[in-house]
Amino acid sequence: MVNEKILVLDFGGQYNQLIARRVREQHVYAEIKPYNKITVAEIKESGYKGIILTGGPDSVYDNNAPCFDSAILDAGIPVLGICYGMQLMAYMAGGLICNAESGGEYGKTKVYVKDSRLFKGVPEENICWMSHVDYVVRVPVEFRVIAFTDKCPSAAMCDESRNLYGVQFHPEVTHSVYGSKMLANFLFEICHCSGDWKMEDFVETTIAYYRKHLAGKKVLLALSGGVDSSVTAMLLHRALGQNLTCVFVDHGLLRKGECDFVENVFRQKFGMNLIRVNVADRFLKLLAGITEPEQKRRIIGKSFIRVFEEVAKALGDINVLAQGTIYPDVVESGKGDSAMIKSHHNVGGLPRLMDFEEVVEPLRDLFKDEVREVGERLGIPNELVWRQPFPGPGLAVRVIGEVTEEKLSILQEADAIFREEVVNSGCEFMTNQYFAVLTDLRSVGVKGDARTYGYTIALRAVSTDDFMTAEWTRLPYELLEKVSNRITNEVQGITRVVYDITSKPPATVEWE
Ligand code: XMP
Repeated sequence: MVNEKILVLDFGGQYNQLIARRVREQHVYAEIKPYNKITVAEIKESGYKGIILTGGPDSVYDNNAPCFDSAILDAGIPVLGICYGMQLMAYMAGGLICNAESGGEYGKTKVYVKDSRLFKGVPEENICWMSHVDYVVRVPVEFRVIAFTDKCPSAAMCDESRNLYGVQFHPEVTHSVYGSKMLANFLFEICHCSGDWKMEDFVETTIAYYRKHLAGKKVLLALSGGVDSSVTAMLLHRALGQNLTCVFVDHGLLRKGECDFVENVFRQKFGMNLIRVNVADRFLKLLAGITEPEQKRRIIGKSFIRVFEEVAKALGDINVLAQGTIYPDVVESGKGDSAMIKSHHNVGGLPRLMDFEEVVEPLRDLFKDEVREVGERLGIPNELVWRQPFPGPGLAVRVIGEVTEEKLSILQEADAIFREEVVNSGCEFMTNQYFAVLTDLRSVGVKGDARTYGYTIALRAVSTDDFMTAEWTRLPYELLEKVSNRITNEVQGITRVVYDITSKPPATVEWE
């Protein structure tokens, strides 16, 4: 389905996914592979039009520094090394790398570029994003320096005869003003890509592919109402019609009105074969008395799978399981996993426990923004396509302490008011995720002339690009005041509303 592709060889840099996205924005398909999971022979066989070596936290002379087979430089495929990738390229070709005595460069930096294909159309003096301590002090003999800064004598280099290019700065970061132009030059002037990777083609070819590949098969999908599973459902519905069965597990832990909304959209509007399983009571029983966050997550994850298995068994005769896996779920980092902070429950663990002929993941090559674009093209309502992230264990991790029916209902009401007011005030676009949390703390209040003793609701709103780090959003006081008034007046059992002003780190986005 992909005619031309670029390999992003990952050396553990924090921008590896960003590089792939920037390439795809230019309509060239890019895939990321850890540097130690592919060989030069495999790279040659796969027919890549070009290779990008990413940055990374190491120094090329470190004992266990990630390295690569230098035959890559003579494979006849254009290579662009970025930051560590440039240093590694220089090191492999016999150059000299050094530790900057002045502590390196960080942030927006003035770069002076010389005439070269990589910098075609880029002003001689421009701003790029730097983040390095080491730098190439002597470029390999076949190379020439094509950019420098006030502190770094070789901010970019090239060996035009072999189409090898290296840049010390990060063209993939938007602070590099001509970064996209440089990447475009690499893709079109150096790798001679045609730029034919387009979303409308993806939609049509994917539907056609599955229509043929899964003809006559019965396919099952766990639909959560999240973006990924909704888009997967629509794509496969267009390919398979009634041969696709979607199972929507209503565990009672979704937001107010959400289950009915999802059911309406997919069953009524799109005529999908959707089974809604109402198991709220069962989940509440399983969660009774449980207060420890990880234990809640485990119980919900396991029980979800059990319910799904039961439905699949009852349906009998299902051949294929479909999943809404997307690219960031499958891409492995060049430096292994980081420490687990909390176990994220999604339906990704299903196939190991169940017996299907095949598992299909139509979105496995797409980034989130690409999935949204597909969703829009398929006519899925904005409320679903642009839905903010919602944890798999649902409101169970937003009710602190034991989850009860009463607490869930209090939280659903308060959360609905908060969401409604954020939208009404036009502040929706100031924040990337916002929700209410029902704390386990009760405090004294006064209503009329009487003493009350009720729960404390916490409001949380964060601004973030990737949810790995997040700032608390500065929502206007007037909005917070209105939400507080409405919640304390309209929701029984709440005496106090607080606003969470902690960023991530040190806190996480969710409270549990
Ligand atoms: P944390 O709380 O880890 O959340 O800072 C980061 C982002 O992930 C969402 N989140 C989850 N998403 N399954 C998910 O699919 C989960 O179990 C889960 N837990 C947290 C959270 O809402 C935030 O957007």
